[in-house]
Amino acid sequence: MQTKLFHIPIPVGHENEIQEAAALIRSGQLVGIPTETVYGLGADALNPDAVAAIYEAKGRPSDNPLIIHVPKDKSWLDRYCVNVPPLAYELADTFWPGPLTMILERNTIVPDRTTGGLDTVGIRCPDHPVTLAIIQAADRPIAAPSANTSGRPSCTSAAEVMEDVGGKIAGIVDGGACSVGVESTILDLTVTPPRLLRPGGMPLEALEAVCGEIELDEAILRQMKEGERPRAPGMKYRHYAPKAPVTVFTGAPFKTAAAIAQLAGEGSGVICFEEFQDAFPGAVVVSLGSVQDKQEQARRVFSALRSFDGTEVAAIFAQCPDPAGLGLAVGNRLKKAAGFQVVEVE
Ligand code: TXA
Ligand code: MG
Repeated sequence: MQTKLFHIPIPVGHENEIQEAAALIRSGQLVGIPTETVYGLGADALNPDAVAAIYEAKGRPSDNPLIIHVPKDKSWLDRYCVNVPPLAYELADTFWPGPLTMILERNTIVPDRTTGGLDTVGIRCPDHPVTLAIIQAADRPIAAPSANTSGRPSCTSAAEVMEDVGGKIAGIVDGGACSVGVESTILDLTVTPPRLLRPGGMPLEALEAVCGEIELDEAILRQMKEGERPRAPGMKYRHYAPKAPVTVFTGAPFKTAAAIAQLAGEGSGVICFEEFQDAFPGAVVVSLGSVQDKQEQARRVFSALRSFDGTEVAAIFAQCPDPAGLGLAVGNRLKKAAGFQVVEVE
């Protein structure tokens, strides 16, 4: 299949291409779409055959449900979810458009294929004007997992989407580089207190300021065991993994840099903070950005993991940020890439 590339940096002046991309969605085709978090692999969320094609193109297990993407307009929340608690409206008012996915009871017009057979649905309003314009023009919610091939790091540019699923889908909309860089935070609002299923682009502290207590799901902190079923089905898979094995080092940055420097040499890869770039002679070094700049670390973490795939490195060592703010999401992505192979440096 020839994949058509649309360059749509902003909606204004690109109305025809937006209509064209929306028409592809309406006709059941797959389109790569930009969001502020990562690129999505979009299809009509209400069309089971279109949704089935997403699983096929990604090589994704069919029990792993999809997030549906809607405009901020509250009537869409009411169309696809039932028994919506007041807190959900408050969160939508405060944080949408933005990197927050809410798990709510689904309306049965959302097909089983979309929710992986669950009676809940993940819903979010992405903060990207081009994708919001496509949703409005298509006049239906867009189901979209991250656009990477299943198991690979997520895509934060249209070029990476082309690399992973080019030739398998009808179109890719290039809306520029993703400004957040890690996927949305997933919060389950069907339980009390709300439960964090995946840390992401919306920091936990910001959500706590509105919700009060939030429980952290186990799957965030450790590897799921054989047969265990995490509440976000996707959290059980080894994710974001480059081809070489990854080990993550937690602790004070100058100490983790020293620990990695002892192990890393020719043939190793290192993901480190900018301040320590020169500390690993002989290794292939990729900077995550400065120790303090977690926004930059979030933007870079997936491309850093991807960057080793073209190289011969046999092992990758990574410095982990502390868990405050976006550090929780960046650290979680690194640890998942490492299959939770973590060295705690005292
Ligand atoms: O930022 C994002 O969320 C991106 C962009 C494209 O919006 N999307 C994304 O989708 O990361 P995906 O499919 O790669 O990850 C969605 C996660 C999976 O782990 C899935 O298991 C979980 O959300 N999920 C979806 N629906 C759920 C539900 N009803 N209950 C629990 N977990 C759910
Ligand atoms: Mg994903």
